[in-house]
Amino acid sequence: MFVKLLTIVFFFLVSLLSQLLKSSSQSLDNFIYNGFSSPNGFRSLDSVHSPLNITLQGIATVTPTGLLMLTNSTRHETGHAFYNQPIRFKDSPNGTASSFSTTFVFSIHAELDTLSGHGIAFVVAPNFVLPVANSSSEHLGLFNPNIARNGTTDIFAVKFNTIHSTEHSDINDNTIGIDINGLYSVKSSQAGYWNETGQFFDITLNSGDRMQAWVDYDGVTHQINVTMAPFNHDKPTKPLVSTVRDLSPVLLQDMFVGFSSSTGSVWSEHVVLGWSFRVKGKAYPLDLQRLPEYSGGFGNPPPPSLFIVVSVPLMVIFLLIFLVGLIFRRDRKFGEELEDWETEFKKNRLKFKDLYSATEGFKDKDVLGSGGFGSVYKGIMPKTKKEIAVKRVSNQSKQGLKEFVSEIVTIGRMSHRNLVPLLGYCRREKELLLVYDYMPNGSLDKYLHSSPEVTLDWKQRITIVKGVASALFYLHEDWEQVVIHRDIKSSNVLLDAEYNGRLGDFGLARLCGHGTDPQTSHVAGTWGYLAPDHMRTGKTTTATDVFSFGVLLLEVVCGRRPIEIHNESCETVLLVDWVFGFWSEGNILDAKDPNLGTEFDQREVEMVLKLGFWCSHFNPEARPTMRQVLHYLSRDSMLPDFSPLDLRGSEMMLGTHQGLSMISMFTGESSMVDSVLSCGR
Ligand SMILES: Nc1ncnc2c1ncn2[C@@H]1O[C@H](COP(=O)(O)OP(=O)(O)O)[C@@H](O)[C@H]1O
Ligand SMILES: *[C@@H]1O[C@H](CO)[C@@H](O)[C@H](O)[C@H]1NC(C)=O
Ligand SMILES: *[C@@H]1O[C@H](CO)[C@@H](O)[C@H](O)[C@H]1NC(C)=O
Ligand SMILES: *[C@@H]1O[C@H](CO)[C@@H](O)[C@H](O)[C@H]1NC(C)=O
Ligand SMILES: *[C@@H]1O[C@H](CO)[C@@H](O)[C@H](O)[C@H]1NC(C)=O
Ligand SMILES: *[C@@H]1O[C@H](CO)[C@@H](O)[C@H](O)[C@H]1NC(C)=O
Ligand SMILES: *[C@@H]1O[C@H](CO)[C@@H](O)[C@H](O)[C@H]1NC(C)=O
Ligand SMILES: *[C@@H]1O[C@H](CO)[C@@H](O)[C@H](O)[C@H]1NC(C)=O
Ligand SMILES: [Mg+2]
Repeated sequence: MFVKLLTIVFFFLVSLLSQLLKSSSQSLDNFIYNGFSSPNGFRSLDSVHSPLNITLQGIATVTPTGLLMLTNSTRHETGHAFYNQPIRFKDSPNGTASSFSTTFVFSIHAELDTLSGHGIAFVVAPNFVLPVANSSSEHLGLFNPNIARNGTTDIFAVKFNTIHSTEHSDINDNTIGIDINGLYSVKSSQAGYWNETGQFFDITLNSGDRMQAWVDYDGVTHQINVTMAPFNHDKPTKPLVSTVRDLSPVLLQDMFVGFSSSTGSVWSEHVVLGWSFRVKGKAYPLDLQRLPEYSGGFGNPPPPSLFIVVSVPLMVIFLLIFLVGLIFRRDRKFGEELEDWETEFKKNRLKFKDLYSATEGFKDKDVLGSGGFGSVYKGIMPKTKKEIAVKRVSNQSKQGLKEFVSEIVTIGRMSHRNLVPLLGYCRREKELLLVYDYMPNGSLDKYLHSSPEVTLDWKQRITIVKGVASALFYLHEDWEQVVIHRDIKSSNVLLDAEYNGRLGDFGLARLCGHGTDPQTSHVAGTWGYLAPDHMRTGKTTTATDVFSFGVLLLEVVCGRRPIEIHNESCETVLLVDWVFGFWSEGNILDAKDPNLGTEFDQREVEMVLKLGFWCSHFNPEARPTMRQVLHYLSRDSMLPDFSPLDLRGSEMMLGTHQGLSMISMFTGESSMVDSVLSCGR
């Protein structure tokens, strides 16, 4: 029994030793790993003392099959692996950096073929304990912007980047770059190689395929060459990235060499299969035949054995499970709903994946604003580089969605210079994403309320209201069918680069009421802009839009919200009442916004105030049509000479009261003025 144990131990040691002797020829100025064979696999900093001479940090491991796995399928993690002994790069502390050369075989297997973790970097660093980069940062687990480094600790790196990050000046998401002490590449190129006759071939880094890379530095000419090729391909003579840069100021006398990698919100396995390094000479070539197998995603395939007959079908099953898992995962992350009826709208359907990358994952910092329906994110379409605004609407009910989507798409076909163009939509789980042109100057409300930083002069204001009026006229009368906007308000008027007013969010209020009789939908819209007849009957008509437009006119001239609430007294003041007060005292112009400036035509300001007042008449029949409104605004016709009481009889007072009593049901909610009824809560 004891003898048996002894022989096992003996054979174990012998095989270990022979492995070591085979896999590395040891010397301080060169080493070679044809696979990272280690009897048991290990991790942790303790591996400083391991026979493999590789030290690991973060989630890096060496698998029993001899793979140096920098990251596995865990998100937001980093992995570092360094040769645990310093390499002498300079003969004296102030000397020049010697030539060095390295080659390695690696593979990146990503969760998704279009998105992946951040990539892999070959690193020369002053210490093998790099600060583990912030897990949420996109810095290859290498440079942590949050940890200030002292000028002396320079890092030289060659990165194989699989994520596109504009802040690091990468060309695209498949690049090779030479970085010196920062993620700004000194020189970079798209991944690929040149063949002998000067033809360029692309390589996809995160394909899961094995590939080989070479990094060579010449201490005399200071040339740095980075070359790569598919596995089993000879080293191309023409380097992929080449630059001249003296590394003497960057490298210390003794430095550590290794790899760094990180995963982001999408995981990738970053694996090194073989590595050879040498100073003062060309790295010894790897024995490609002896490198471990890596098929992506398995991490620890069983070692080859007699039971291969058993393991092959097992592998197939695993593969199937893996694929199903992958599809499932993908579905969860980028899952969209597509129903039969949607095929007719295919043209307008956008891919969630595209929107996800356009907005860089719907980050909070990209939120343009949020309203009753959800948040609006800024994004840049990956291919066209077009700036977009993506509105995420959560809708609880599927009923009526078809009608809604078809309406949205119909609306998308409309084109008018004063409408915010709708580019398309996407549906996913309980969400609807609407994609609009991005309006660089934001929404009108920002220029009117709460002591705005930038105010608009009269000329700009009149241009904006004329624009909105003509858009609304187009919706009501000029298009093939009558479209009721349902939610006219200042935050739905967006300003383009030239400060033209553009009406957005048409038809959206409809979503609140869907499922019920379209004629008598729920009250939907925004407090303060709701016509009394709308509140009474729940019906929307073109006249209810005119009412809201009237309130908008008053808002633009007065720079006040439709309903102002006084903090101390909790008293609510309707803008209409406020204007009425000035008008009945005979000084209607005093209602105007003090920020209006001095350049304006008094009669025009007066006319717009009166027109706004008329539009928000209690009686829907008494309101003008948008056609009339346009005529008055463009001063083709003169506004009839009203007295304030003509437009506001006893009926009107009744209406106000009703409005106020409905409002008072909701007082106490400070956001009341801005929030949307029924949908917003
Ligand atoms: N196309 C767009 N371009 C720029 N900003 C936009 C765009 N659409 C919406 N926004 C901004 O997002 C905010 C929220 O929009 P939304 O959800 O429609 O709520 P609301 O209109 O009730 O304020 C708007 O106030 C506006 O500032
Ligand atoms: C690790 O380093 C030690 C000391 O330099 C050396 O004796 C040993 O052979 C090295 N092992 C490998 C695998 O390089
Ligand atoms: C990844 O590696 C880390 C560290 O070894 C381990 O804790 C984790 O469970 C691994 N994750 C997966 C999905 O294999
Ligand atoms: C190296 O440089 C430092 C400062 O530049 C100097 O003080 C030192 O004497 C130099 N050493 C040698 C050996 O030249
Ligand atoms: C990581 O970054 C986030 C956001 O930039 C920050 O809040 C957090 O404190 C950072 N964590 C570390 C460990 O630096
Ligand atoms: C950086 O310098 C500061 C003081 O100059 C020192 O306290 C700190 O330890 C240094 N950090 C590193 C990583 O060397
Ligand atoms: C380089 O690629 C081109 C295009 O495939 C091919 O025609 C040419 O023969 C290749 N040259 C060599 C030396 O392989
Ligand atoms: C870099 O590539 C150029 C062009 O092939 C070659 O002349 C030079 O010797 C290479 N330098 C190194 C350090 O490999
Ligand atoms: Mg809006």
